[in-house]
Amino acid sequence: MSKEKNYLTTASGAPVGDNQNSITAGHRGPTLIQDVHLLEKLAHFNRERVPERVVHAKGTGAHGYFEVTNDVSKYTKADFLSEVGKRTPMFIRFSTVAGELGSADTVRDPRGFAVKFYTEEGNYDLVGNNTPVFFIRDAIKFPDFIHTQKRHPGTGRKDANMVWDFWSLSPESLHQISILHSDRGIPATLRHMNGYGSHTFKWVNKDGEAFWIKYHFKTDQGVKNLDVALADKLAGENPDYHAEDLYNAIEDGNHPSWTLKVQVMPYEDAKTYHIDPFDVTNVWPHTDYPLIEVGKMVLDKNPENFFAEVEQAAFSPGHFVPGIEASPDKMLQGRLFAYSDAHRYRVGANHEALPINRAKSPVNNNQRDGAMRFDGNGGNNINYEPNSFNGLKETPENKTSPFEVSGFADSVAYDSDDHFSQPRNLFRNVMNDDERTRLIQNFVDHLSGVDYDEIKLRQIELFYKVDPELGTRIAEGLGLSVPETAK
Ligand code: NDP
Ligand code: HEM
Repeated sequence: MSKEKNYLTTASGAPVGDNQNSITAGHRGPTLIQDVHLLEKLAHFNRERVPERVVHAKGTGAHGYFEVTNDVSKYTKADFLSEVGKRTPMFIRFSTVAGELGSADTVRDPRGFAVKFYTEEGNYDLVGNNTPVFFIRDAIKFPDFIHTQKRHPGTGRKDANMVWDFWSLSPESLHQISILHSDRGIPATLRHMNGYGSHTFKWVNKDGEAFWIKYHFKTDQGVKNLDVALADKLAGENPDYHAEDLYNAIEDGNHPSWTLKVQVMPYEDAKTYHIDPFDVTNVWPHTDYPLIEVGKMVLDKNPENFFAEVEQAAFSPGHFVPGIEASPDKMLQGRLFAYSDAHRYRVGANHEALPINRAKSPVNNNQRDGAMRFDGNGGNNINYEPNSFNGLKETPENKTSPFEVSGFADSVAYDSDDHFSQPRNLFRNVMNDDERTRLIQNFVDHLSGVDYDEIKLRQIELFYKVDPELGTRIAEGLGLSVPETAK
C-alpha cells in the first residue's frame, strides 16, 4: 500500500504524529487534556457498541445472488421474478434466536434465515427461519414467549421452568417444539438446512389477480444435522463453529446454494381450505399445494466488515416490492411494525441509508433530517407532495391490491384448536423409529430441567394428545405417569 493512503489520522482527517504515547506534562505526567487524539480515541471506543438484536443476536452473513429458473410471472408481477435467468444481488443473515451476541452456534434453537433481495424496485426482505411454522400465532404473545427463552429476571439464568410453563400453557407451540426437538433442531452447518418464509404472503400478478404463497428454500447441500453430544462439545470448543464453516466454505469457492420453491394457493381457496392458511403454526401439506420451483440462491462472497454488514443489516418483513404483499396472518401483521421500529432504535432513524441496507435502485422520498443523516438529505429538492415544483409523485399502478374484510373489530381467538394433527403427522408419518426415539430423548432431557411436576404433567398430557406413544414414552423417561385426564 502506498504511504499516502496508509497514514493514520484523527476522525477529522488530521495526521497523527504519535499513537503510542499520550501527551504528558513532563516525563511522568499527568496527562494533558489537550491531547485531543487521546480523548477522541477513548471517547469513540466507549461508543463502539450498538444494542444487540433483542432476539437473533448471534449471527453471521454472506452476499450472493438469486437467479430465476422458472417462470412464475403468472402469479406475481414482482420485477425480480419476471423472467428466467434474471439475477438479483442479495445478502443473507443466519442466526440463532435466544442467545446473546457471543453465544454458541451449535445449540438447539430455530435458525434465522433473513434474506434481502436488492431488486430494481427496492429491497424485498424475506425474514424467515429454518422451520416452516412458529411457536405462537398472535403477535401479542411474542414478548411473553421471548421472555421465557431468555434469562430469568431473578437469577439471570436460562430457566427450563419458564420455557415449559409457557409451552404447556400454549398448546399451539406443539408443532414447532416437535420440529425444534427433532434432529433438525441442531443443523450440522448453516449450509445444510432449509429456510422457510413460514407465514403466508400474497402475490399479485399484472392483471391484479392475487394468490397466497408459502416460501421454501431447499438446501442444495442436503439436510444434515448434528449429533447432540458433538453439538454440546462444539459449543464449548468453538462457539463460532457455524459462522466459521460458512465463511471457510465461501472462501474456498465452495459456494452454498438453495432452490427457492413456493406453494401457491388460489385466493378463493383460503375461504374454504380446511386449514387456516393464516395460522403460522400450520403447514400446507405438499399433497394439497405442491412445491413450484422459482429460482436458485447462491452465496459467493463473505462480508468484508462484520459490523458494517452483518450487525448493521436491518431486515424487515415490511419491506415489500410491487407484486408481493402481506397476508392477514396476525403474527406477520405484528412483525410489519416490530422490525423497522427495532431498527430505528438499534441502528438509528436513517439506518436505511447505510450501505448494507440502501436499496440499489433509486430511493426518493420526503423523509428528511434525523441523527446521522449522511446521504445528502435530498439536497434542495422540495419535500412535500402534492406539489407544483416537479417534486416526487406517487405511482397509482403500485397501490396495494384491494382485499375484502368482514366481521366485528374484537380480540378474537383463532377458530381452530387442533394443535395436534400436524405434529402427529410429523411424529407418525415423517419420522422413522430412530428419529422418534431421539425426539423423545431430547424432550425428556429438556423437561428434566423443570422443577415442578405440575408443569411436566401438563406438557405430557399435550404430548399424549399428539400421539399416545409420544406422551407415554416421555412420561416414562421422566419417571411419571400419563395423567388420566389425557386419555
Ligand atoms: P410431506 O411428506 O410431503 O413432507 C414432509 C416434510 O417434512 C418434508 O418437507 C421434509 O423435508 C420434512 N421433514 C423431515 N423431517 C423433518 C423434521 N424432523 N422436522 C421438520 N420437517 C421435517 O408431508 P406434509 O406436507 O403432509 O407434511 C407433513 C409434516 O411434515 C408436517 O406436519 C410438518 O411437520 C412437516 N413439514 C411439512 C412442510 C410443508 O410445507 N408441508 C415443510 C416442512 C416440514 P425435506 O423435504 O427437506 O426432507
Ligand atoms: C429478529 C420481532 C416473529 C424471524 C427480530 C427482531 C425483532 C423481532 C424485534 C430484531 C430485529 C433487529 O434488531 O434487527 C419479532 C416479533 C415477532 C417475530 C414481534 C412476532 C410477532 C418472527 C418469526 C420469524 C422471525 C415468526 C420467522 C418466521 C426473525 C429473524 C430475525 C428476527 C430471522 C433476525 C433478522 C436478522 O438477521 O437481522 N424479530 N419477531 N421472527 N426475527 Fe423476529
